[in-house]
Amino acid sequence: MLKIENLNVKINDKQILKNFNIEIKNGEIHAIMGPNGTGKSTLSKVILSDKRYTVESGKIYFNKEDITNKKTNEIAKKGIFLANQLPCEIDGVTTADFLRTALNNDDNPISLYEFINKINKAQEDLKMKSDMIHRSINKGFSGGEKKKNEILQMKILEPKLIILDEIDSGLDVDSLKIVCENINDYLVEHKDASVLIITHYRRLLDYIKPNFVHVMVDGSIKCSGDYSLALEIEKEGYGKYTLNNDNNSSAVIVDEYE
Ligand SMILES: Nc1ncnc2c1ncn2[C@@H]1O[C@H](COP(=O)(O)OP(=O)(O)O)[C@@H](O)[C@H]1O
Ligand SMILES: [Mg+2]
Repeated sequence: MLKIENLNVKINDKQILKNFNIEIKNGEIHAIMGPNGTGKSTLSKVILSDKRYTVESGKIYFNKEDITNKKTNEIAKKGIFLANQLPCEIDGVTTADFLRTALNNDDNPISLYEFINKINKAQEDLKMKSDMIHRSINKGFSGGEKKKNEILQMKILEPKLIILDEIDSGLDVDSLKIVCENINDYLVEHKDASVLIITHYRRLLDYIKPNFVHVMVDGSIKCSGDYSLALEIEKEGYGKYTLNNDNNSSAVIVDEYE
């Protein structure tokens, strides 16, 4: 579904992503863990072609199509969804209006009746207050409410690839459980959908079990493994992955570090 090859990305002449590679197949859940400032959010934004970042070299393919530097709305329409680490506030546009417009721009728009039913159900599933979808997007929302609003958008837009950038930050324990249950239900209903989870904490991965866990340090993946790698990170931190940073072009399997 998603393939990133040798991606090098700069912002303001500072190189952030360094020969970054990953492949996510249909139905797979991948988790990326890594210290602050290592380029995780940059990666998520570059996939959606945030123009503040410059792709120096490398390619991003979605279902074999080269989407590097394509327009963000075209990429979103193909089925890639990003739940931002820091969702922005958009004054004057309600969540309901935004989502209705987004769906109407689709090739198969749904009726108003269908839309209302769908958004009401999504809101109830997420245990959100009923007025929230009629307020300006994220305006005055708490951190946790913003995160729930991202997942509401995911449920309505029905993407093929879901990128979750620290969806767990700002959520209380009950809300985290609700959000994860909604994501898991979505994955049961959309068997081919894939997920890229960016997180610091294993507890999110206890709810949404990843097939692969990657450790990202200094702009590239240093080590890949399964869920047990998340346990190891929690116990030991990122220390051993930050020691030898000169060769950051290739990932290694976890056994080489044992
Ligand atoms: N607009 C910007 N201008 C300069 N540096 C930036 C900008 N955005 C991000 N960076 C830098 O890029 C690096 C990676 O940031 P980010 O991708 O947000 O890291 P992470 O999500 O892994 O914590 C950080 O050092 C950050 O300060
Ligand atoms: Mg980040």
